[in-house]
Amino acid sequence: MTIETQRQDGADVSKSRDTLTITDNRTGKQYEVPIEDNTIRATELRNIKVDEDDFGLMTYDPAFMATASCRSAVTFIDGEKGILEYRGYPIEQLAEQSSYLEVAYLLIHGELPSQSQLDEWTHQVTIHTFVHENVKEFMQGFRYDAHPMGMLLASVGALSTFYPEASAIKDVDQRYMQVVRLIAKMPTLAAFSFRHNRGMPYVYPDNELSYAGNFLSMIYKMTELRYEPDPRLEHALDVLFILHADHEQNCSTSAVRSVGSSQVDPYSAMAAGVAALYGPLHGGANEAVLRMLRRIETPENVGDFIKGVKGGKEKLMGFGHRVYKNFDPRAEIIKKACDEVFEVTGKNPLLDIATELERIALEDEYFIDRKLYPNVDFYSGLIYEALGMPMEMFPVLFAIGRTSGWIAQWLEMIEDKEQKIARPRQIYTGPREQDYVAMHRRK
Ligand code: CMC
Repeated sequence: MTIETQRQDGADVSKSRDTLTITDNRTGKQYEVPIEDNTIRATELRNIKVDEDDFGLMTYDPAFMATASCRSAVTFIDGEKGILEYRGYPIEQLAEQSSYLEVAYLLIHGELPSQSQLDEWTHQVTIHTFVHENVKEFMQGFRYDAHPMGMLLASVGALSTFYPEASAIKDVDQRYMQVVRLIAKMPTLAAFSFRHNRGMPYVYPDNELSYAGNFLSMIYKMTELRYEPDPRLEHALDVLFILHADHEQNCSTSAVRSVGSSQVDPYSAMAAGVAALYGPLHGGANEAVLRMLRRIETPENVGDFIKGVKGGKEKLMGFGHRVYKNFDPRAEIIKKACDEVFEVTGKNPLLDIATELERIALEDEYFIDRKLYPNVDFYSGLIYEALGMPMEMFPVLFAIGRTSGWIAQWLEMIEDKEQKIARPRQIYTGPREQDYVAMHRRK
């Protein structure tokens, strides 16, 4: 428990320094620790010792609930106010006026591109969409019903064996080449995984199409000579990629940073990101929302369902967020994108249930008191389903969009002089100094 004490001497606190004074009651000694950016350096605590042999004080923070692991200039979130900005630009403006490739450029380079920079970037990404034929062959070796996320995870990691020069992470040109390849090839690997899972022939990229349009072509093209994506679906998918592009130090991004801190090549680091995103607590919540809506069946059943949630029987999936405590700005944008998609595909009947759930929940004290609002996943699953994606593809789509954020954060980490190999400490709780017992003497 933290104890707050009043200053007894009546000193004017407005003149206080930006420091924290700690009294170690074990020794009676006092320490002054600098506060910078509302943070203290945990290593400062190592000076707090009971004697010279003591290792020094550590912090214990499972799940990094109150520990900043890096300085970052990529993404800003204010959870109380529902603000999300990439490089300082509000997500609402980017979703409305930008494109995914431009946002990827912004995240990776730190600034919006000029027209010629954007053209060159788009050209570079577009001409690198193909993968080596061997990639296709080894993907064909997966079981006929392999989960596409497992295939994506393996194949992005495997790219390091096709580009061994990628291990030269200190070489700026080599680094840039891998950045382009990653953004370009991720949709190809994702689409091949989808087609494999469906038992359909893989479709090669069409470099005449946009980033999202090409992805739709690789997913849906059948016997037609050229697949013509519906511009409304193409746009909606592009917006979804933008909304998922980065979210500061989330689980998969910190996995990328942590694995990348060993100075491994970026393909291996991205594979760690895909692996983290595979988990149901991270990239899988939208699937849970869809299952929940199907189970509720009709808007008339919503009242009973909410009673169950309030009674602690289950959670209202797609509601609540660790960081956003007012509203998730991405959810508002996705809701609009839903209308665009349903105009083309016809309304998903589950939308009525979702709307009714949202209406009731937003008026209910249980949800108001706990600051529970729809998050990005409440509506994204409905759009993905309307686009004809099976549920296993939901995290894969998330991974395509998040790749630019992973790369931006990885590049930032590589250049950050303060970063070293990630290596947390532990509190050891096991036995010590046991003598080995021969097998025949063990009980
Ligand atoms: N439905 C019903 N009650 C909830 C929900 C929910 N979805 N979320 C939180 N609560 C309750 C929780 O039971 C607790 O109540 P009480 O104070 O009575 O014990 C209170 O609200 C605080 O919840 P918490 O679990 O301490 O909050 P958290 O910050 O640890 O969890 C969360 C955040 C997102 C894991 C959680 O809200 C949740 O499980 N939501 C459903 C799953 C979901 O939609 N996940 C997608 C997150 S967005 C994707 C992304 O950005 O990557």
